[in-house]
Amino acid sequence: MFKPLRILGFAGSLRKGSYNEALLRAAADLMPENVVFETFNLEDIPVFNQDLEKQPPKIVEDFKKRVKAADAILIATPEYNYSIPGVLKNAIDWASRPYGDNAFEEKPVAIMGASTGMLGTARAQYHLRQCFVFLNVHTVNRPEVMVSYAAGKFDSEGKLKDEKTRESIAELINSLISLAETFTKR
Ligand code: FNR
Repeated sequence: MFKPLRILGFAGSLRKGSYNEALLRAAADLMPENVVFETFNLEDIPVFNQDLEKQPPKIVEDFKKRVKAADAILIATPEYNYSIPGVLKNAIDWASRPYGDNAFEEKPVAIMGASTGMLGTARAQYHLRQCFVFLNVHTVNRPEVMVSYAAGKFDSEGKLKDEKTRESIAELINSLISLAETFTKR
């Protein structure tokens, strides 16, 4: 029977008008019909405390369940001080714990990011990839979607207006789906 591929997206920015949230919205518009794409807002995830990792807050349990249930993950990360935002790292830390219950284990993950700077989150993305080595994530290598000078690439309503970026996101989605399909066929 036909079973859609489930992709979960989340962004590492809580900012109203976030370019990274806008990237996720652009990705949503590009998803093929056989994909169910949902997003998770990290806003209400509390700061990680290892004392609570075995009985995490409900929102964390929900997040972990959503990550585990997804066939693939799409992350849009800003770059903060040459790395990933605490909001994103915090959510990943919760979902990776307790040891032995890593929601990201063997998960196909695609990364993209937008920044107002010239390197378009390159440094943050490589930090994120480093975290995912330990978490045994299967990260899409190509294309690398690093959206530089983001302020000029979205309109006043946060809609992507840069065609090259749209093409790169579409390519990234295709790569993620191909990778995810190799796992769902196992
Ligand atoms: C930034 N910004 C930034 N940009 C960049 O290219 N490299 C960097 O290291 C940083 N560092 C940084 C630190 C902090 C604390 C903030 C708040 C911002 C700028 C960043 O690219 C810009 O704020 C983006 O708009 C953030 O993404 P969202 O919120 O639009 O998704």
